[in-house]
Amino acid sequence: MKTLLISSEKGGVGRTTIALNLAYALAKRGWRTSLVDLDPQGGVGRLLSPKVMQAPGLCQYALEGHPLPTLMYATRLKSLQVLPFGPSTPQERASMSVALGDGALLKQLLDELETSNDIVIFDAPSGFGPIVQGAYWNVDSVISPLRADPLTLRGIPQFLEQLAWIQEQREPLDIAGFIINMWDIQDPTSAEVVQEIQQSFPEPTLFRTMLPLDRQVMKAAAKGVPLGLLSRNLVPTASLFDQLAMECESKLSLIEKEPEDENFALVD
Ligand SMILES: Nc1ncnc2c1ncn2[C@@H]1O[C@H](COP(=O)(O)OP(=O)(O)OP(=O)(O)O)[C@@H](O)[C@H]1O
Ligand SMILES: [Mg+2]
Repeated sequence: MKTLLISSEKGGVGRTTIALNLAYALAKRGWRTSLVDLDPQGGVGRLLSPKVMQAPGLCQYALEGHPLPTLMYATRLKSLQVLPFGPSTPQERASMSVALGDGALLKQLLDELETSNDIVIFDAPSGFGPIVQGAYWNVDSVISPLRADPLTLRGIPQFLEQLAWIQEQREPLDIAGFIINMWDIQDPTSAEVVQEIQQSFPEPTLFRTMLPLDRQVMKAAAKGVPLGLLSRNLVPTASLFDQLAMECESKLSLIEKEPEDENFALVD
């Protein structure tokens, strides 16, 4: 099982959007995938539906000892399940920082998911608070979205400093890479930022896939679906998430098992 954290210093850069759409794309490609919401704001639930937002989740697992299998929220894809953050009071959110900060509980959660998952994706809150740190102690890899605007460039050094600090304290963390999001094709400033990011982070630190600023993303969010479910017709940004999933397969060494049936064929 591989574990992936979607994390960034800044808020509003597209972590939850990428976490959901990447999880969907990987699940559609056959990987047994769980998306776990680490954000006390409950971004995943907020994106999906009020019902998911109100469903018990990580908070009830951590603070009330609810059994994990009863909390995993099924989706229309058999291979994709979601663990929402769960409803919480301000006091419970403070307790979650304490409960998850040393990473032990998240390790327990991952141990429980191990046999039934190929990949677990964590959607982190912004910054490097205790919950995020607890996740950093446990994951194999991290993806960090970079919003294609000038302020992003100013925030990168601090993020790299934090990563270096984490790297010093644990066995090497695999940086799956930065991913450019909300690249505004119409805006020359956005193009300049993209160019600067590409110069600062050559491959493999930067994903080849770049996600444009696309109104379809907001349309999908309004409907509570990943882009791949927005329409039967091709939504170009949905296919970019398929491409991102393929890049992740290669970066995370997600290796497909050979079909067990020797007579595996398209037709009889
Ligand atoms: N490529 C995109 N094109 C258009 N809108 C986008 C794109 N990516 C994300 N958004 C929109 O930007 C907003 C922020 O995205 P999202 O919630 O995924 O970011 P986040 O980093 O998880 O934010 P938060 O800090 O609140 O957790 C949302 O309204 C989302 O629909
Ligand atoms: Mg979010």
